[in-house]
Parts: sequence; structure tokens; C-alpha cells
Amino acid sequence: MRLVIFGPPGAGKGTQARLLEERRGITQISTGDILRAALEEETPLGQKAKSYVESGELVPDELVRKLAEQAIADEGYDDFVLDGYPRTQQQAEWLTKFLEEHEAPLDAVVSLEVPDEVLVRRLSRRRIHDETGETYHLDHNPPPDDVDPDLIVQRSDDEPETVRNRLAVYREETEPLASYYERQDALVSVDGVGNIEEVFQRIERVLGASERPA
Ligand code: AP5
Repeated sequence: MRLVIFGPPGAGKGTQARLLEERRGITQISTGDILRAALEEETPLGQKAKSYVESGELVPDELVRKLAEQAIADEGYDDFVLDGYPRTQQQAEWLTKFLEEHEAPLDAVVSLEVPDEVLVRRLSRRRIHDETGETYHLDHNPPPDDVDPDLIVQRSDDEPETVRNRLAVYREETEPLASYYERQDALVSVDGVGNIEEVFQRIERVLGASERPA
């Protein structure tokens, strides 16, 4: 399947995309994860993206497009879930055209619906494993006891002020894409409130309905 998982910061896109990868064998393509790895390794891309990611602004379309293009090509244009891409009208239009050129249209854009107060709580309590990138939540999905607590860190863009900016950027630049995909009849909305497994089961139900014939 070819999917986009869509929603505001903290909606659970990464969590659900990783479950889709584990259970359905659909590769997660997270532009945020790729950018954070580039920052960590101080590659030329990381150096260009650093100030944007750390302040919660969007990295310029041109830089992120190359990442998406490469990652989708690496998957042979099939069996991927885009997490965090597209985020602007320009990115969405490019993606539609690119996938059309490869006769690989999206099967669905899964939109996770979560109110702001829940998003802020999730982001303030999120923690990341510094080496593996595994995501935890101090209340709902705590790190296992055998994990070294010194390796459990907070993402720098999860500071309250940066979270406010990321939510504002989402409302301004990304949320309007819901109507774009609605017009393409690709958008499926899923209630993102509930535990991780409940949300996953809701996604499974809507994907069952969008499954392509073999
Ligand atoms: P990115 O990494 O994509 O961040 P984001 O979209 O802001 O999303 P998050 O990763 O914060 O949240 P999520 O929805 O994945 O939630 P998660 O599953 O972790 O992007 C970071 C930055 O990179 C951007 O700000 C930008 O600078 C740049 N960037 C990336 N893509 C770009 C693009 N296309 N164009 C331009 N710039 C780009 O869950 C959050 C927390 O909640 C976790 O602790 C989790 O354990 C917990 N949780 C999840 N689900 C549940 C549940 N059901 N119940 C309880 N807790 C839950």
C-alpha cells in the first residue's frame, strides 16, 4: 500500500507508522527522522536544516523533496507510509505528480484527529531513546526498566515554546492539505484519541476499506 499518515505534531503519526511497518511490512518514511539523523551526523543537509528543525519551522520544500523522492524510489514506489510528508501545498502537488509519473497513486491519506490539549500533553511527556530513536511516553508508553535512563532524552523541539510554534505552523501550512486530499477522495479520518492499540485498530479498519485488489 501507499499511504500518507497525516496530522498535527503529537497526533501519533510516528507511533502508528512504526506499527504499520512492524505489522503490515509497509516501510515508514519519516522526513522528521531523516532530518534529525542528518542533524546528529552534522551532514551538509543537517547543517542546512538545523535552525528550521530546532525552531519548529518547516525546512525548505526543495531540501525535503529530495529526501522524499529518494526514500520512495528506494521502496520501489510501493509499500510505504509517509510520516510528516507532505506538509505544504507545494509538497503535496509535487508528490501527486511524482507518484503519477510512476503510476503509483496513494491508496489513502490517514488523518489522525486529536484535540490541541491532548497534543500538548503528549509532546511534553514524550521521550526518545538517544541511540535507537524509539519513542516513549512517560505515562502511556514508558521506557522498559532494562533501558539505561541516561539514554532517554527529550526532543529539543518538544520545549513548550517550540511546540506552540510547531502547532501554529501546522495550522497555517499543513492543515489545509486535508481539503486537498478530500477533493481527491483520498482522505480518511481516524479518531486519534484512545490508547495506541485502539487507534491502530481504527486505522486497520479504514485501511481494510481502501485495500487495493491483488
Ligand atoms: P516530525 O518529526 O515529522 O514532527 P511532527 O510532525 O511535529 O510530529 P511528531 O513527531 O512531533 O509527532 P507524531 O505525530 O509523530 O507523534 P508521536 O507518534 O511521536 O518533524 C520535525 C521537524 O522536521 C518539523 O518541525 C520540521 O522542521 C521538519 N520537517 C519534517 N518533515 C518536513 C517536511 N515535510 N517539510 C518541511 N519540514 C519538515 O507521538 C507523540 C507522543 O504521544 C509520544 O510520546 C507517543 O508515545 C505518544 N502517543 C502516541 N499515540 C498515543 C496514544 N494513542 N495515546 C497516548 N499517547 C500516545
